[in-house]
Amino acid sequence: MTDEPLLRVSALSKFYGSRVGCENVTFDLWPGEVLAVVGESGSGKTTLLNCLSTRLLPSSGTASYRMRDGQFRELYRMSEAERRFLMRTDWGFVHQNPADGLRMTVSAGANVGERLMAVGDRHYGKIRATAVDWLSRVEIDEDRIDDEPRAFSGGMRQRLQIARNLVTGPRLVFMDEPTGGLDVSVQARLLDLLRGLVTGLGLAAIVVTHDLAVARLLSQRMMVMKDGRVVESGLTDRVLDDPRAPYTQLLVSSILQV
Ligand SMILES: Nc1ncnc2c1ncn2[C@@H]1O[C@H](COP(=O)(O)OP(=O)(O)O)[C@@H](O)[C@H]1O
Ligand SMILES: [Mg+2]
Repeated sequence: MTDEPLLRVSALSKFYGSRVGCENVTFDLWPGEVLAVVGESGSGKTTLLNCLSTRLLPSSGTASYRMRDGQFRELYRMSEAERRFLMRTDWGFVHQNPADGLRMTVSAGANVGERLMAVGDRHYGKIRATAVDWLSRVEIDEDRIDDEPRAFSGGMRQRLQIARNLVTGPRLVFMDEPTGGLDVSVQARLLDLLRGLVTGLGLAAIVVTHDLAVARLLSQRMMVMKDGRVVESGLTDRVLDDPRAPYTQLLVSSILQV
């Protein structure tokens, strides 16, 4: 256990011209904690996630990340090279559309091995063995290792994307609607798998979803966004069982009608 957060976010805002992307978002994320960011389409979830993962620069506000050496670093003051290094090693980013996070025309094994090589692994046999191990951890048969992801189903692609992200042992994973594009039956299985991996590895994660069931299953804490602002946050069970903001009450009751 550590008594310091992994990520500290303060008054983060992103405007697209005069349009609000997200506004004045403040929170701490603790090691091993899964935070769900929920809200309807257009509420600013993706904007916030992209700012946090430095894929987008905010208009104002700060975010500091506790590096492996224990030092906090201000994300938006890092050099491009330092940010890229973080993204390749200490962080993962799982896109809703697996094609955005995979190389579709290289083999499944290479998709996983590539991330290892990016952190300096050079031993082919070891890389291959680790790739095999990770494929099995995401329930992909070893005999598919030389197949390209474009030959995979949507669920398999998403599982491969997860393996590619987790193989380097990241401490923080960003996920944007990780089950969003999948059939309901496939979603349930993927969610189960994700939950097992996140818990088993003690990963911290920020999971964007419009699906409260995903938030319930994966997260300990959640933030509800509307029009770019956080309207409610708290422990997931508390927010879902006893929503306080009128907007959260609406969200929770509308899910019950489905
Ligand atoms: N590249 C962009 N240019 C202009 N406006 C954008 C851009 N991306 C998002 N927005 C606007 O910012 C707001 C938040 O969008 P977004 O972060 O995509 O929300 P969500 O992920 O919750 O659907 C919306 O009003 C959206 O139209
Ligand atoms: Mg979005």
